[in-house]
Amino acid sequence: MNAQSPSKTYGHLAVHYRNPAEGPLAARLLREIGFTECYSMAQPDGNEFYHFVIDEQANRGTDRIFYLLCMPEVLRKLYDAMHGALKVGTDGEDAAVTALRAAQEQDPEFNFHAAIVFPSLEELEERVGRLQQLAAEDEELKDRIKITLNRAKPGTPAVDERMDASPVFGDVDRYTYGVNGVQVFVETDLIAGGPLGDNWVFEFDYVFPGYKNNILNAPSDDAIAILEEKEAAGV
Ligand SMILES: [Fe+2]
Repeated sequence: MNAQSPSKTYGHLAVHYRNPAEGPLAARLLREIGFTECYSMAQPDGNEFYHFVIDEQANRGTDRIFYLLCMPEVLRKLYDAMHGALKVGTDGEDAAVTALRAAQEQDPEFNFHAAIVFPSLEELEERVGRLQQLAAEDEELKDRIKITLNRAKPGTPAVDERMDASPVFGDVDRYTYGVNGVQVFVETDLIAGGPLGDNWVFEFDYVFPGYKNNILNAPSDDAIAILEEKEAAGV
């Protein structure tokens, strides 16, 4: 591996809001999540094409872009046909659909989703606090977002202490699969996701630096530096 050569990155993710009327609200949710709008414009059909970056420090040309487009009619018709054939949401709903939705209810990570890693736990907590407030009180968004938190799996005393003191994770009794990190899921029906065009899920992650093992199984630069220092010191 050549440490000098620049790595490939995700260029963009493109998703759909459901209909022209809901575009502005879906875009507002992305702003509330903390994305920065750059080059939004009207498409030839008159619907808005939203161009966000997930961090305003990101390269605005090609990197970390999140596109939000109106669902094309052909796709909407396909979802309608699938929902009709599988009797989604009716008494005769296909058992496979019921099972999928039950699994998704239990674990927001079960289906297709996109994760954003935050550089600071405080920033993540502030953002989650704002979204919780919107989910509870906001006229437009209160029935459109669902927030689920996984605190760090117990086992690292300093992390456990920080979790107990956290304004958003302190009372949480769900846990990540691994140690030394947290996950937050923000589920919304304003964006289509998954095989049935159901709710879209954003995941927010934070990984505590300085530990070789974490929920993403990829030590951060900080962690590698700390471990190398410890090894050099014979600790
Ligand atoms: Fe995930």
